[in-house]
Amino acid sequence: MSSLKIDITKVYGFIPESSIFASESNVKEQLKKLYNKSGEGNDFVGWLDLPSKFPAELITDIENTAEKLRKNIDILVVVGIGGSYLGAKAIVDALSNNFVWMQQQKGNPQIVFAGQNIGEDYITELLEVLDHKNYGIAVISKSGTTTEPALAFRILKTHLEKKVGKETARERIIAITDESKGALRKMADLEGYKTFIISDDIGGRFSVLTPVGLLPIAVAGFNIREFIAGAVAMEKSTSPEIPFLKNPAAIYAATRDALYRKGKKVEILANFNNKLTYFSEWWKQLYGESEGKDGKGIFPASVNFTADLHSMGQYIQDGERHIFETVISVENPDSKLTIPADKDDFDQLNYIAGKNIDSVNKMAELGTMLAHVDGGVPNIRIVIDKISENSLGQMVYFFEIACGISGYMLGVNPFNQPGVEAYKKNMFALLEKPGFEEETKKIKARI
Ligand code: PA5
Repeated sequence: MSSLKIDITKVYGFIPESSIFASESNVKEQLKKLYNKSGEGNDFVGWLDLPSKFPAELITDIENTAEKLRKNIDILVVVGIGGSYLGAKAIVDALSNNFVWMQQQKGNPQIVFAGQNIGEDYITELLEVLDHKNYGIAVISKSGTTTEPALAFRILKTHLEKKVGKETARERIIAITDESKGALRKMADLEGYKTFIISDDIGGRFSVLTPVGLLPIAVAGFNIREFIAGAVAMEKSTSPEIPFLKNPAAIYAATRDALYRKGKKVEILANFNNKLTYFSEWWKQLYGESEGKDGKGIFPASVNFTADLHSMGQYIQDGERHIFETVISVENPDSKLTIPADKDDFDQLNYIAGKNIDSVNKMAELGTMLAHVDGGVPNIRIVIDKISENSLGQMVYFFEIACGISGYMLGVNPFNQPGVEAYKKNMFALLEKPGFEEETKKIKARI
């Protein structure tokens, strides 16, 4: 079973406990819909039982591919956007040393990302770095047609082939894409790249527990078996047989729904551990893209504390009262650093001399929670023991299944993202892409 805990006691001052438990049958119904595949988007729930059914030979294949790459490269450039990059970035950052060169000293390639923006400076400066490094590329696109990664891959592939020759480049490029459709599949087959498949029934933002997330995580030197084991534990803890009160994802979904109906339209995911910054970015995509549709949905925001207490803290404490906070609380991080005593005590810190830095962080966390609750911000705590492969696997699956339940409770299809197409259509029209002639005419009349 999983070890993640959820504490919702600090929402009771804002919504009655009974309003959460009143949702029990609704939550159970939505969870069943996911499992029975009877809800909207039911052809995209392949992630639901993937952890427990993960093919053993696929894990081995990912590990072997990662090991081969690790021997030959200093940098792996992961090319992808949205769900094809945020999960890997979230987990690699959470598990890595804060300082990149320490990771490399331990013999681990650095994982860098491209194709997640079209900023010319980003790709130009990346190429400058890559000029002097041994690198490989994992190009990830389910559709194979997303402009940002396609553009980055075209540039990087040309650079790598020029640098090491076509043959060696072929050995260092891995494509993760659809089994049979799309431009990337076609190119990979033609070039003879090693490929991994993203199955049809798993959308990008639910794909971190597939080769999309697992390959970069393994290349970075982390234990993907433990990551999957964490997800398996959470899959068990959140299955329909588990009683409502024992299912942390059911409680989370019910609480969010009750808060939303009470006018709390913004959820802020907060952490007190800098390494979780990108975990929040992954979570924002998961919830934003899944729930924000049909004029509905909680807006997902994030903060990194204590840093953002000195920027966003004022608003959270005192601004419009339409927010609630979900804090990821790391109970027992490896904490060794104590605060030294100082004979002069100019900074007046001797009263905490001898204490662990983490114990100060904990008091900041507790003090912040009480202050924000006093200020009118309901608080949910998601508690993990340590930041580890296992706990991250638990959290990933926890947030995914809670997101599926929440989307159905809201009455939307949590597995599509029709809104993402609007900017693409305009961009293609403005770039005068063949096939967009009508749109080009219309858009030119508007500018
Ligand atoms: O969640 C999703 O499906 C999207 O955010 C995609 O991950 C994102 O648009 C990238 O798509 P693709 O992997 O097809 O390039």
